[in-house]
Amino acid sequence: MTGTFLYKGIKFVSNVHTEESLNYAENEFAVQDDDIFNITYPKSGTNWMIEILNLIKYKGNAELSNQVPIYVRSPWYEIANSREQIAALTRPRIITSHLAHQLFAKSFFKSKAKIVYTMRNPKDIFVSSYHFSKIMNFYKDPTSFQDDLENFLQGNELFGSWFDHVKGWMQMKDDSRFFYITYEELLQDLRGCVVRICKFLEQDLDDAAIDSVVKHSTFKVMKDNKMANWSTVPSEVMDHSKGSIMRKGVSGDWKNHFTVAQSEYFDTFYKDQMKDFNVKLFWEDN
Ligand code: A3P
Repeated sequence: MTGTFLYKGIKFVSNVHTEESLNYAENEFAVQDDDIFNITYPKSGTNWMIEILNLIKYKGNAELSNQVPIYVRSPWYEIANSREQIAALTRPRIITSHLAHQLFAKSFFKSKAKIVYTMRNPKDIFVSSYHFSKIMNFYKDPTSFQDDLENFLQGNELFGSWFDHVKGWMQMKDDSRFFYITYEELLQDLRGCVVRICKFLEQDLDDAAIDSVVKHSTFKVMKDNKMANWSTVPSEVMDHSKGSIMRKGVSGDWKNHFTVAQSEYFDTFYKDQMKDFNVKLFWEDN
């Protein structure tokens, strides 16, 4: 595994990110008014949203989805080698980021660009991340489930604390440039979510186009699509023999991993961290 480093108190992967790339992302990156940002805490459904947004951009036409790797269609703009890929994007650019709100591009806040922010039950994020770290060579190897859980809760994770990420970004919840959604809503009613996202992006798609967006962004289709399932990532970066980023694609898998005590411990921590957060999130009621 490559090392990690702290940038303004948040942990990043060495080489994938650099001080320079993060400083560029925060202070120099020029946001364009028609940019669409796909922002998530890792393992919240980032790739799913890339697929949805790109299919909406092309009115349901899946040609590029079947030809260009998903991480090239909408690169993470904070990573060190993404500049050329970003420069090659056609407008409106669909750009991905895991950055915390306080590290995000300053030029965004003076622009008319838009953000789609996807959240997911943090217990499922933790489980997804635990498995992902076993296949990604630049992630740390998981130590033990319990130790990793503690790191997750304490925010000692890549891209920082989930709680801070959500609370930071959700300060924008009433901003007309900001749209938030959850992984669980996407699972429950993908079509309805696609319609809502189209409305936010002011994209007028007919029923057939919406059907096509939905069809090409289902778990099964993405899992089988080499351009969406990360099988194009070199094996020195990702050990494909150990698993896939398209792992289960369900909500509630945490129940197969957490003990009752771990779940209760998580809930107590969660309640304390989120006590002043006044938005009900999907998994809190379901
Ligand atoms: P699991 O590991 O729980 O299966 P990210 O893209 O942010 O890295 O998130 C990856 C998670 O999103 C994985 O979760 C993956 O299976 C899930 N995912 C990706 N595409 C999906 C889809 N079309 N439908 C449901 N889940 C999807």
